[in-house]
Parts: sequence; C-alpha cells; structure tokens
Amino acid sequence: MTSSPPRPPRDPAADDARFLRDFETMSSFGATPSGGVDRQAASEADNAQRRWFAGLLEENGLRVVYDRVGNQFGLLERVPGAPYVVVGSHMDSQPTAGRYDGAYGVLAAAHAVFRIAAEDGAEAPPVHNLAVVNWFNEEGSRFTPSMMGSAVYTGKLPLETALAASDSSGTTVAEALAPTGFLGDGDGPEAVLCAEIHIEQGRLLENSGTTIGLVGASWAASKYEITVHGEQAHSGATAMEDRRDALVGASMLVVAARELADRFPGVLHTAVGRLDVYPNSPVVVPSRATLLLDLRSPDEAVLAEADELLLAEVARVEAAANVTVERTLSHSWGVNPYQPEGVELARASAERLGLRSGEIMTVAGHDSINMKERVPTVMLFVPSAGGVSHNEGEYTEDADLLAGLEVLTDVTRRLGAG
Ligand code: GLV
Ligand code: MN
Ligand code: MN
Ligand code: MN
Repeated sequence: MTSSPPRPPRDPAADDARFLRDFETMSSFGATPSGGVDRQAASEADNAQRRWFAGLLEENGLRVVYDRVGNQFGLLERVPGAPYVVVGSHMDSQPTAGRYDGAYGVLAAAHAVFRIAAEDGAEAPPVHNLAVVNWFNEEGSRFTPSMMGSAVYTGKLPLETALAASDSSGTTVAEALAPTGFLGDGDGPEAVLCAEIHIEQGRLLENSGTTIGLVGASWAASKYEITVHGEQAHSGATAMEDRRDALVGASMLVVAARELADRFPGVLHTAVGRLDVYPNSPVVVPSRATLLLDLRSPDEAVLAEADELLLAEVARVEAAANVTVERTLSHSWGVNPYQPEGVELARASAERLGLRSGEIMTVAGHDSINMKERVPTVMLFVPSAGGVSHNEGEYTEDADLLAGLEVLTDVTRRLGAG
C-alpha cells in the first residue's frame, strides 16, 4: 500500500494573495469606467463571470451544477450522500453598482472551501459536504422579485413564477437563461446549514471600529408596485382643469413616501427606486406611471403603521390629482432573527482569530434571509467605507476582506464538522 504524500503546509500569505488576485479578475466582468460593475442577472457580463467562476471552482476540484432557476453550485463531496453546508451570495449587480455587493461573498465562500479542502480534516473531521453557491438574480434590477434564486430554492417562490418574470423588454428569465447552459434539471444540493458573508452597506461597523458584523436579524421590508392611471392628453392644449396627469399623482406619492420616513426618524426607510412613465413623450400628459416603492423598518409595528398611512396617502392623491391608483405588494419579509447558535458560533470564530466583532441587523435583503427560514444560517458582515453601496464608489479595505474570509473559513469548517 502506498500512502498519499504529505500535504505541503498552508502558505497563508500566498492564499490571501490568490484571493485578492481572483477578486481583481472577477471585478473585471462588467467593469464600468468609474470603477464599478454592471452585471445584471443573465446579462452577457453576468454570464461571462459565471463561466469564469465555474472554471475556478473546477480547477480547485469542485463539481459545478445548476438547478432549475440557474443557481450555480460548486460541490465538494467529502462524505458520500451527506447533505451540504451551502455557503455563498450573488454575483449579479445593479446597473451601476460597486464591485463588492454580493460578489465578495461568493468569492470568499469559494476560497473558504478551497482552504478547507486543502486541510487534512484532523482539526474538524467532516460530517457534511460543502457547496459554494452563486444565487441567481439577487438584485432584482432586471427581473423582479429580488432574491429570486434563493426564493425558488427554499420553496418561497414557485419556479414557474420565477421563470416567467420578464425584464423591461419582455424577455423572460427562462428565455434569458436558455442559451447560457445555466439551467439545470435538478433541485441543487440538499442544504442542512448555510452561511453568507457580505459587505455591511451601512456605516455602523466602520463607526464603531468593528471588523466583523454578526447579523442577528433583518429589518422588515415591504416592496410595492404602484400604478397611477390618468388620461393621455395634449400637454399644451388641454385645459388644466381637464387633466388627469398620472405623473403628477406619482410625484405626489414619491414625496409622500419621503415624508412618511420623516415621521419615524431612524426606524423607517423609504424610497421609490424606479419610475416608468407612459408614453414618456414630449407634449403628452402621461396616462400611466408605475413606481417601485420600498419601505423598511426594524420594527414590524412601524412598518404596518406606515403601510396604513401610505394607503391614506393613496386616497388623498387620487382625489387631488384626479387619478386612480393600484397598489400591489410584490415582495416582503419580516424581522425574523437568525439562529442565535449561529451568531455565537461566528462570535467565537472572530474571537479565536483576534478580530473585533459585534451584533448587527441587516437593513438590505440577502439570500440568507430566505435560507434562514429553512436551515440554521450564519450571516456575517465586513465594513463598507462610508456606508456607500449600490454605488460605483463602494469600497472595503483588503484587510477587512481577508479578515472576513478567515472568519467565514472557520465558520464553514465548524458547520461542516456537524
Ligand atoms: C436586496 O438586496 C434588497 O435589499 O432588497
Ligand atoms: Mn447583495
Ligand atoms: Mn445589492
Ligand atoms: Mn441585496
């Protein structure tokens, strides 16, 4: 019998350099001139990055598979037939986005698994298999709702609904994914535990000099699609008293949403992120305007009250602008905690590594919010410089990226050891 040659000792500096080099490479997909990225779901840039990422996973010994909604998984099977610790985030982005949102968490997951695969398992003998995941369409900028891939994976959103969602040109998710080779015919690996790391997208960690955020719960969110119906008319010739201007109604709602937040300082965030006007033409009073309105709070009672107040605003706007308003709740989630055992596990990992950590809530949505409803899930944050996010100027220091990777590796190793 021949025994396998001893593994070369790990070279942490070389591993860190490899991670930062891979991060530079991944940031080149969909790179924008101002240093950000544009990688909307199933765009050419997103597809090219996924192909590159599949290559990286395979070079490092992982088996790449896709599920029916295009979630991309890299599998490290260590215990035949055992379920998986699923670790990852998303690589798709907003149209002019930063390079860290989501992408950092996917690459950190991959490198955490590469590092664990290179160990001999003596420290933490494996009980579960490990899967790196790149969830499909977390951002929801091209296809709504956001967090689509994880919502289908966890059974929160029907597969058919996701595949039929269309972008502004009428292309469906199914049509966009069909030519890419990223549509599998299975359900993906069976998850038993989950972990995700992400940039904070706020400035609490930076302000408190904390390197690792231990996410204990999410803010609640309500996302509405609101359509204001008026009547198309000549913008010069029509008498003012005869007008039913959909954009005037929509504008009143934009301001009302902002004023609503001002009534609950610090505990209600609101914004209209998108406004589509029809026919959007000079010399035409718009007949229709559609808004995507986002309301968030760390307190579900505040969110419920804001929902009520918004309804009253809708009635006021209908009367004031002589329009009719349709309001549909398109997506929502609550203030559900992450499992406390996961928070404690991550706290211990940070402490072992000599890193300052603290508990924090996530205001932004993450795939882990879906996953924690199904399996125990650990969510970690690293600082965002100035809290800048969904902006090409998003930045996190290399030292923080590497510290987060260390903690994620330790957390994944321990989750994988059962
Ligand atoms: C998605 O990231 C969201 O916060 O809605
Ligand atoms: Mn994200
Ligand atoms: Mn985002
Ligand atoms: Mn997000």
